[in-house]
Amino acid sequence: MIWSTHSAASSGASARSSAAALGLAGALLLAGAPVLANAPLAAVAHGHDPAALPGYDPDGDPRERPQPGGEGLPRALEALGVFDLAIGLAAFYALPAPGEPGAPLDTLSPRELLAFAAGRVEFAREFKPAEGLGPHFNEPSCGSCHALPALGGVGSRPEHVIYVHEPADLPGETVGLRRQALGAAPPELAGPRRGRRRTPPLFGLGLLDALPDEAIAAHADPSDADGDGVAGALNRKGRGSVLRFARFGAKCHEWNLWRFIGGAMRDEMGLTNPAAAGAQADIDAVADLEVDAVTMRRIDAFVRGLAPLSQRAVRDRRDREVVAKGKAMFAAIGCVGCHREALGGVQGVYSDLLLHDLGAGLDAGLDDGPAKARFWRTPPLWGLRHRPRLLHDERATDPASAIGWHDGEAAKAKARFLALPEPERRSILAFLGSL
Ligand code: HEC
Ligand code: HEC
Repeated sequence: MIWSTHSAASSGASARSSAAALGLAGALLLAGAPVLANAPLAAVAHGHDPAALPGYDPDGDPRERPQPGGEGLPRALEALGVFDLAIGLAAFYALPAPGEPGAPLDTLSPRELLAFAAGRVEFAREFKPAEGLGPHFNEPSCGSCHALPALGGVGSRPEHVIYVHEPADLPGETVGLRRQALGAAPPELAGPRRGRRRTPPLFGLGLLDALPDEAIAAHADPSDADGDGVAGALNRKGRGSVLRFARFGAKCHEWNLWRFIGGAMRDEMGLTNPAAAGAQADIDAVADLEVDAVTMRRIDAFVRGLAPLSQRAVRDRRDREVVAKGKAMFAAIGCVGCHREALGGVQGVYSDLLLHDLGAGLDAGLDDGPAKARFWRTPPLWGLRHRPRLLHDERATDPASAIGWHDGEAAKAKARFLALPEPERRSILAFLGSL
């Protein structure tokens, strides 16, 4: 099956976007040459060995690689294929309308939009054992976990929480566990220590991926030199002399989307692919790599192109005042020490993408390299109202209880919140409920 049931969530928006889609599709067909010549879809032909690409580096960032170019329309169309073009055009009909959850950024170029639409299909596609799924995996598609309120969102069922553990042979490292096994292969055994991780939403992550390291490093204060009680640590990762600031994952363990997506494909679905770092072989009958670079680039284009969820429009004047007051109080009591409204020009993110010690209550007992057990990345709060459960392991069901778990570096802000008179506290919760 190509479409997962999760895509049904956006069907209401389809009709409204189809006119625009048709226009775009027509434009692509008529003026295809300049648009498609450099399309990411066309950059690598099906079945092409990705290692043969100029500058290919399995650990690298695609943006840092030279793009093959100058091949002109015949090569581009050959690479795209009639089948892919048909899928790409059909996929436009299903795209959520601007402003709806799961819609693309409005800054995407036509070729990025084509790749986004094709990537959305791949994101929802359930892989089969014959295509390399497994032998150990959690779910057969990205969209089976990242589902609510639209493709790219949060998990909808308890089984979308993944389990991590510290393997006996890798002390101090956290590794994901896979629950499902194909055939006679035994399920993976957990080490003595285990933790839960919720499926986070992916909306807006492309904007965060594009931030330069300095925009994040500017707010780091690992030894709390300014004495405000809020530190903020960076997780430096990389090979050799090239160190990058990791910004993805609850422990900031990955530094760019391309690698995270490759890791998710391999670890959640058991599919070896050219975007994942490290060992690229598994023990099923399907030859590695099981997913090609074309598919990975499409999924990358989809995740990278997802627009952040927008704040709820508050129509009632009285409600608007309460939300505005809550926003001001949120800043005044120091929540913005970590939940920064803007980061490097990206508005409305309410995160610093740094690791903070949130105290013993949120100590999951598992270090992940330099990110120690009590440290968590400040989650962006955009789209908060669409998350049914909160915190890294989904232990909280509403913002008030999530605040209750804050401690450590956030102890002062929490104490100020609890000391506020009831109406002020309510206004902060109203503001959070509008995000
Ligand atoms: C079994 C459920 C599951 C599946 C399937 C899954 N994910 Fe995830 N995803 C998660 C969880 C859980 C996390 C959080 C991991 C962490 O915090 O370390 C996550 C995190 C991510 C992140 C980083 C988010 C952030 O804010 O830093 C990206 C990007 C991502 N997934 C993309 C994908 C893609 C692309 C696929 C398909 C190739 C996929 N995921 C498949 C559960 C899943
Ligand atoms: C020292 C940094 C810091 C401060 C200050 C801080 N937070 Fe947080 N906040 C975090 C981190 C880190 C998490 C994630 C913890 C986890 O996943 O277990 C979080 C999680 C949350 C969440 C849940 C989001 C989600 O998706 O799960 C909400 C809501 C929240 N904070 C609101 C607030 C409010 C309101 C304040 C002010 C009273 C505040 N925070 C102050 C760092 C901070």
